[in-house]
Amino acid sequence: MTRVGPRVVLGVSGGIAAYKACELLRRFSESGHDVTVVPTRAALEFVGTATWAALSGKPVSAEVWDSVHEVPHVRIGQSADLVVVAPATADVLAKAAHGIADDLLTNTLLTARCPVVFAPAMHTEMWEHTATQENVATLRRRGVLVIEPAEGRLTGADTGKGRFPEPDEIFELCLDVLARQGSGTMLDLAGRHVVVSAGGTREYLDPVRFLGNRSSGLQGYALARVAAARGAEVTLVAANTTLPDPAGVKVVPVVTTGELRDAVVSAAAGADAVVMAAAPADYRPATRAATKMKKADDGSAPVVHLEQTTDVLAEISHDRGRPDAVIVGFAAETGDDTGSVLDHARAKLARKGCDLLVVNDVSGGKVFGEAHNEAVILDSDGGAHEVPRATKSALAHVIWDHVVTRLETS
Ligand code: CTP
Repeated sequence: MTRVGPRVVLGVSGGIAAYKACELLRRFSESGHDVTVVPTRAALEFVGTATWAALSGKPVSAEVWDSVHEVPHVRIGQSADLVVVAPATADVLAKAAHGIADDLLTNTLLTARCPVVFAPAMHTEMWEHTATQENVATLRRRGVLVIEPAEGRLTGADTGKGRFPEPDEIFELCLDVLARQGSGTMLDLAGRHVVVSAGGTREYLDPVRFLGNRSSGLQGYALARVAAARGAEVTLVAANTTLPDPAGVKVVPVVTTGELRDAVVSAAAGADAVVMAAAPADYRPATRAATKMKKADDGSAPVVHLEQTTDVLAEISHDRGRPDAVIVGFAAETGDDTGSVLDHARAKLARKGCDLLVVNDVSGGKVFGEAHNEAVILDSDGGAHEVPRATKSALAHVIWDHVVTRLETS
C-alpha cells in the first residue's frame, strides 16, 4: 500500500499572486504531500480549475454544492494536517476572522483543527488598513499563523509591503509547521520579536577589494525561518548573503561590521531575543582607499594596517536594551595546546557575556556552507547540551527551544 503523505489543503484566494501558488502546489505534490486545492471564486478569475486539477491530480471546486454526497465543506477541513491559504487576500482574512462561511474555503477554515497558515498578499494600503490589521490580530490571537507579507514590487508599478513571499520559502515554512504539528507548542514564539544576524561581513581596502570570510548564512537563515514558523516577528540582519528572503521575515541587508552593528543594536532595542549567527570580521583596514589601489611597479607589496571592529555580541550582551532579553552567540572553535574546543568556548561565553553559546567544532573547515551541523549549546548557568549532527533547521529548532525556556523562566 502506498503511504499517503501529509494532507495539505491549499486555499487560494483572489489575488494576482494566485499564479505563484501553482509553484507552491508543485513543491507540495512533488515532495509526496496529498494536496487538495480549494480556490475561491475570485481566485478562479486568475487561475482556472484545469490548472489546479492537473497539478494536484484531484477535482477542484470553489463551491460547497459540488459532490455534496461527500460533504466536502466538513470533510476537507476535518481530515487536513495543514491548511495554508496562499495568497490570502484582505477579504479572506476578514471572513476567517469573523467566521463567515460562504464558500468551500471559508467552510474548510471553520472545520479545520490542524495548523492554519495564511500568506497574505495585497496592496500596502489594504494590508495597513486598521480593519485588516485587526483581523490579523484576531486570527493570531486564536493561534493562526499569519505571516508578514514581504516588501517589494507589487502589481503594476507600486512597491511596498504586501508582496507574496517566494513560493519555495512558504513551502519551507510549511514544512517546519508540519514538523512541529501536534507538539502542543506550535507557536511558542508568538508575540515575541527576535533578531537574527547571518552571513559574513566585508571590510573594504578600496572600492573593489575586501577582507571577508566563508560564512554562507545558511544557519542564520534557518534560525530566522524557523522563528517565523513558530510565530515570531523576525528581523534578519543579513551580511552579503545570496539566499532568498525567508517567508514572513523582515530582512535588513548590511555589508560591513559597522553596518551590522548599527542594524543589530537598533533592532535589538525592543527585542525578546537576539541570535548572532553572523560572522562579522574582527578586523578592518584602518584606512579605505577612495580609488582602486594600483600595483607597485617596483614589485613591493603594500602593508595593510588593521584595526579591531566592534564586538557586537559583547556590546549587546553587556549593554542590554531589555534586561530580560535572551542573547545567543555562536562560536566556531578549534582545540589547541591551550585547551579543548569546549574550554575555549566556556571562556568565550564568559568574555562575551551572552546567555547561550552555540559551539561548532570547525577543525578541518567543517560546517561552512554545509546543510548539516552539529553543536554543543552552552548556557551561562554552566549547562551543556549536545546536539548530534542535524539539519540546520533541526539545530535552529533546538536553539529556539532553549531560548523559549529561558524566556519563560525569566
Ligand atoms: N561576533 C560579533 N562581533 C564581532 C565578531 C564576532 O558579534 N566583531 C559574534 C559572532 O556573531 C558570534 C560570536 O561573536 O556569535 C563569536 O565570534 P568569534 O569570531 O568566534 O569570536 P571572537 O570574538 O572572534 O573570539 P576569538 O577570535 O578570540 O576566538
